[in-house]
Amino acid sequence: MTTPPDNSTLTARATDALLTADPAAKAAKARQIEADYRRGNITLRGDSSPPARPGRPERPLLLAPRDMPKRRAGRSEAGRIALLHALAHIELNAIDLALDIVARFAPDDGEDEFASDWLGVAAEEAVHFELLARRLNDFGAAYGDLPAHDGLWEAAEKTADDLLARLAVVPLVLEARGLDVTPSMIERMERFGDRETSQILEVVYREEIGHVACGRKWFGRVALARGFDACKTWQELVMERFRGDLKPPFNIAARDEAGLAEDWYAAIAAPLR
Ligand SMILES: [Fe+2]
Ligand SMILES: [Fe+2]
Repeated sequence: MTTPPDNSTLTARATDALLTADPAAKAAKARQIEADYRRGNITLRGDSSPPARPGRPERPLLLAPRDMPKRRAGRSEAGRIALLHALAHIELNAIDLALDIVARFAPDDGEDEFASDWLGVAAEEAVHFELLARRLNDFGAAYGDLPAHDGLWEAAEKTADDLLARLAVVPLVLEARGLDVTPSMIERMERFGDRETSQILEVVYREEIGHVACGRKWFGRVALARGFDACKTWQELVMERFRGDLKPPFNIAARDEAGLAEDWYAAIAAPLR
């Protein structure tokens, strides 16, 4: 892998990582961009445009969500491989989602905090992907072995025109949903005696609270800058731009920790069935 020169711009580096098809190389680039940024080696925004779709490897085969084989992550090794594979796929998408926010929406007036926050998220997503991919290897499997679903980039495409819409849907719906479902996965892995997997999921869970918090912080700032009521605007954007339900039960404690108050999502949630 060739390293781009240090004077390469923020958007050029993020776009280069987005276009990288090999998952391990993409993850390494995401971490490297963050490290270079922290060292002060990336100072210019530049004007590279991120691609409509990120680079992806030939495998996994991407299927429509409805064509995905239904598998419950059970005690069996095959069940755990399926779970790890699905999560690795989500994390690979998450690397691209964070890099896309930087490349597409970083302001050019030198507001460092935005790039700094989202590059931090991208680097953590890269580590999440690497941890899960390595755990798959422990089971003699690898990312790419199973089909994966192609619905994840849809949210990015539908919100490519507006930072506020992107923040409303990606961190504050999709990543928040991750907070709701991860504790039961951790508990299941513990019950199966798979400490290694449960510890990885613990790391992911803790850091995802931070990603939702980051989304909430920037959603609030951008809404304020535009003179909008944050809660009402979020609810409108979710109804307009997110196809799907906000499904209870919610992890209210984790969402609270991220600053996502219950009155934001309770009012537009699907009924508990
Ligand atoms: Fe993640
Ligand atoms: Fe995340």
